[in-house]
Amino acid sequence: MARVFVLNGVNLGALGTRRPEVYGTLTLGDIERRLRERFPKVGFEFRQTDYEGEMVGFVHEARESDGIVINPGAWTHYSYALHDALEAVEGVPKVEVHLSNVHAREPWRRHSVISPAVDAVVAGMGPYGYEVAVGYVLGRSETGEVRR
Ligand code: DQA
Repeated sequence: MARVFVLNGVNLGALGTRRPEVYGTLTLGDIERRLRERFPKVGFEFRQTDYEGEMVGFVHEARESDGIVINPGAWTHYSYALHDALEAVEGVPKVEVHLSNVHAREPWRRHSVISPAVDAVVAGMGPYGYEVAVGYVLGRSETGEVRR
């Protein structure tokens, strides 16, 4: 069974009530339930934290997994610690996900310090972006494609 970590960072525990016009009305629990339904054969490890150091720990915990799907929230734009943690986890497909289209919002959201440390980035697809990211991760392990 493929083991995939789905990591959500700062403020993402407030999904559902936080700026629904931007992030939608689904809670994080709803999004996780949808992933379980869509991919019943995947062993998901869901984590959310508002503490940067704890998130770094989750990334290291995922080093033996089959994939990391991470929405770092605002850490995306400035956390070199999270960048370094992701960079240190080699041989695991990693995808950065954003519910909103960060490129169509404030200029400071256009820059990600996380993107250089991951394989792919999904933005603006709402909750569906997590499904796309998991699909990519599973495809990578099926084809046995060489991993970074
Ligand atoms: C976000 C985009 C970030 O800029 C923001 O700080 C978030 C959520 C998104 O999912 O669209 O917290 O990562």
